[in-house]
Amino acid sequence: MNLNHRVQETLALLQRAARDFQPLAMASSLGAEDMVLTDLIFKNHLPVEIFTLDTGRLPEPTQRLMARVQETYGQSIRVYFPEAIAVEALVSRQGVNGFYHDIAARQACCAVRKVVPLGRALTGRKAWITGLRREQSSTRAALEVEAWDADHNLTKFSPLADWSRDAVWDYLKAHHVPYNVLHDQGFASIGCSPCTRAIAAGEDERAGRWWWEHPETKECGLHLSAQPEGSIA
Ligand code: ADX
Ligand code: SF4
Repeated sequence: MNLNHRVQETLALLQRAARDFQPLAMASSLGAEDMVLTDLIFKNHLPVEIFTLDTGRLPEPTQRLMARVQETYGQSIRVYFPEAIAVEALVSRQGVNGFYHDIAARQACCAVRKVVPLGRALTGRKAWITGLRREQSSTRAALEVEAWDADHNLTKFSPLADWSRDAVWDYLKAHHVPYNVLHDQGFASIGCSPCTRAIAAGEDERAGRWWWEHPETKECGLHLSAQPEGSIA
């Protein structure tokens, strides 16, 4: 499928979601995929709130991109933060970088900093939109474009599910979309600063996320049902 056709299909899906699933919101990590969706939503003035979960540990370039999005589109991304008291309790329990100790500690950090705030961001919504793609990892291979999200009790759209990484970058370049400068430094997938690193040529695109864990556990809890049965994250 050529890029134009793919874009038209994706836009049609976003328009249908915006028409039939109000109120709905899009979750953006400011990663490459999310910038494709942000460009489509803002340029077409679709009534979709775009939000991000600021964990308190995001890289500076991600924060700068957030500001740049506002300058570029004249529309802003809503920012959700974790509960201060919950972060304080977590840090006093496991230490400031306790997430490196073991998977349970890492998941506890993701829960406080991302999963609980996500629940708040989705409250009262009929649907949410994500930038997930099937090719990103083994945990996402069975991802559907539209599915009931039983974890959050609403419909989940992943309009880029069957997009390739190249298609994402072709779109960003063709439409001069702002993107995270860390992508130019070898970062394929970008999350929190201490849990993200650049990848080497030929490595899996999520190899730089929680690189000390096995691929099957590498989800932060935002997308539990994207995982195969039996995985532990
Ligand atoms: S994850 O492991 O962090 O969940 P990834 O970075 O691959 O995964 O992002 C997948 C999708 O989850 C993004 O396209 C976006 O929809 C959502 N997402 C991830 N991180 C955030 C965040 N910090 N704020 C909002 N949405 C996010
Ligand atoms: Fe904590 Fe790392 Fe998860 Fe960010 S990615 S919430 S720092 S464990």
